[in-house]
Amino acid sequence: MTVTSTCCLAATVLALAACYPGPVDPVGIPQAPAPYVRAPYVQQVTDSSAWVLWMSQPGSADTAWFRAPDVDSVWIRAEVEDHRYGTRRAALGPLPLSSTVQYVVSAAGTRMGPHEFHTGPAAGTSGEDMRVLLFGDSGWGGPEQIDLARQMQRLDWDLSIHVGDIAYNDGAEDEFTERHFRVYARTLASTPIYPAVGNHDIRADGGRSYDGAFLWPEPFSGARYYSFRRGRVLFVSIDTSSKTEEVAGLRSGEGRQLTWLAETLREASVDSTVDWIVTLMHHPLYSHAGGISGHGLDRNLRNELLPLFERYGVDLVTAGHDHHYERTYPLRDGRRVEPGCGPVHVLSGGGGGSMYARDVTTSPLAANARRVYEFVELTIGKNTIKGRTIGRQGEVIDEFTVRRYAGTETGLTDTCSE
Ligand SMILES: [Fe+2]
Repeated sequence: MTVTSTCCLAATVLALAACYPGPVDPVGIPQAPAPYVRAPYVQQVTDSSAWVLWMSQPGSADTAWFRAPDVDSVWIRAEVEDHRYGTRRAALGPLPLSSTVQYVVSAAGTRMGPHEFHTGPAAGTSGEDMRVLLFGDSGWGGPEQIDLARQMQRLDWDLSIHVGDIAYNDGAEDEFTERHFRVYARTLASTPIYPAVGNHDIRADGGRSYDGAFLWPEPFSGARYYSFRRGRVLFVSIDTSSKTEEVAGLRSGEGRQLTWLAETLREASVDSTVDWIVTLMHHPLYSHAGGISGHGLDRNLRNELLPLFERYGVDLVTAGHDHHYERTYPLRDGRRVEPGCGPVHVLSGGGGGSMYARDVTTSPLAANARRVYEFVELTIGKNTIKGRTIGRQGEVIDEFTVRRYAGTETGLTDTCSE
């Protein structure tokens, strides 16, 4: 592929942000069989329901079926409906708790599956340790992304959180198809992905393709931010990228999203059935990249969000945007604190987008900061979140443990007090 955009030429000259040539054929990754455009993938898997989405040629006669083999071997037909912008979907349920579910989709007689996924434990109960895939800034279709995708599919995930910039360069429909759904087809068939929208994801058509690709529990119609529970974990996805007043308001201390976020975190901080709060968003509050080695932290965003996270006890803050890996020590008031006394920030922007020109700098706040392609495996248990950061060849780049942080609102433990 030799096509190079004006944007890419400028980026090459300046050695600045990532720009990518036109359609790339992800080498060695098969396309979805016709008439599928995107193979089936699961979304919004709860303790009692799930969705399966796919994209097929217009006019294709499609059906979907599911069963929970440990409970009943009978296949149940699910109703197929249009989702958004060419994507189709079927609701699966009611489903049993903490169970394996199988599903099959048939498009014009071409069957895919059965695939399997696992329903969650009842909200508020802990169940087994939860395995979460964290990655970001991934979708170019290049060899680094494909190597990581192959490592991801060796593992069994309960869910995935993606911190944005899913489909370079502009979030166009064919970029989502080729550089996300095709590359991760095996993982996405069994792993519900929960995205945070990135700046590249909404360039092509204001985010229409992004909106069509995923399904999330919208607190307000059209909002790209949301929260969801699984077991005793609250995940909060924050929109830092859309060109709307309420996203701008996140950086100036006003607007509906900020009000919603503060209330969501406040409620969780006093909810005895929530052990962990994990946030995901594209723009980082801490980043040691800067200048020609990346974007660096978003200072206005940090000024508004960090006080909320530290007050209401966010345990783990995840982000991307800068194309490297970085993990801070537990931090509060801009200083390193003991484990369990402040949030840990993990920047996972090494999902496949091109590395920036220079290595990242570091500081006493960063426990690990490296210019490397990676994704993160989070194992969330009762008292700890264990993290393992994995590279292209499956090598372990970092290992860490996050301990529960109560937040200043409910009172710090003696260990954390000054
Ligand atoms: Fe970005």
